[in-house]
Amino acid sequence: DLRIGNIAAGGGHHSDADYPDPFPSDPEYRDHVAQEYSSVTHENYLKWEFVQPEQGVYDFEQADAVVAFAEVNGMDLRGHALSWHSQNPDWLEEGDFSEAELREILEDHVRTVVSRYAGCIDQWDVANEIFQDDEAASIRDSENIWIRELGPEILDDIFTWAHEEDPDALLFYNDYNVDGLNAKADRYYDLISEQLERGVPVHGFGAQTHLSMQYGFDDSYQENLQRFDDLGIHTAVTEIDVRGEVDENDMMSPEDRAGAAERYATVLQACLDVSLCNSFTIWGTLDAQSWVPNTFPGEGDATLHEGDYERKPTYCILQRTL
Ligand code: XIL
Repeated sequence: DLRIGNIAAGGGHHSDADYPDPFPSDPEYRDHVAQEYSSVTHENYLKWEFVQPEQGVYDFEQADAVVAFAEVNGMDLRGHALSWHSQNPDWLEEGDFSEAELREILEDHVRTVVSRYAGCIDQWDVANEIFQDDEAASIRDSENIWIRELGPEILDDIFTWAHEEDPDALLFYNDYNVDGLNAKADRYYDLISEQLERGVPVHGFGAQTHLSMQYGFDDSYQENLQRFDDLGIHTAVTEIDVRGEVDENDMMSPEDRAGAAERYATVLQACLDVSLCNSFTIWGTLDAQSWVPNTFPGEGDATLHEGDYERKPTYCILQRTL
């Protein structure tokens, strides 16, 4: 009963006229996502800058459309993300708020968003990317407004508020570069262990799994998920894509394509073999709409489908892994 998911893309860099946001504008895209996947997540539409563009003014139009799409197509939903250091509205990042005000703003947002989708969105990325990439994987206490202004203790509250609004939803941490036994993953392991001991409602650890053929891949991917599973919590592959250097046709070399397929399959197999891993989300459908070419210039070919929706060889390799 593994859910294979994709993003219903939305917002962010898709404002580029060459790449109109495919979810609202392209029925073929929506049909494709509905046919190929059993779960869906919002790429951007549930982030703060979309949901609360002005203080106290919530806008759920685009987020609701994705939820409705998932419901009518019988798909599961992952919610992304309730707190993050990125894609926050300017009024929040540049505002001059007291601690008490910020706490109230955060609590109101978390409760409003989670209660709206209670019973529909059953997994939430509650805290996204809270640790840095420095050697010690220190907590993001300068970039993340919540941790900077309210201290890391606020994390307990965010999970608790979300849990109160939807006691059945699974509440996750989510991050990149936690694709093996490394310092960042260790920090999550320690933090979650402590929170569980204190009775904080944390239910899951999500490995985004943005991989590149330009970098190595640790052979401890499964071992890492397994240790969270041993804590009795869920794990999920939340944003996988495997990119590489591309040629003028936006394709990786055959060697890199083979290597990327192998990594996709290794990660899928790891998730299948870890008992509480039941969610595997690919971050993008078509390469032209994926965040990769915009974010990592010169890299691409990271998704499972060609531009005409034809399945890449990687897709078939994954199918055989299932
Ligand atoms: C990315 C989106 O795909 C882009 O459209 C947007 O411009 C930036 O964010 N980790 C996350 C996701 O948790 O929210 C990010 O999504 C990719 C990295």
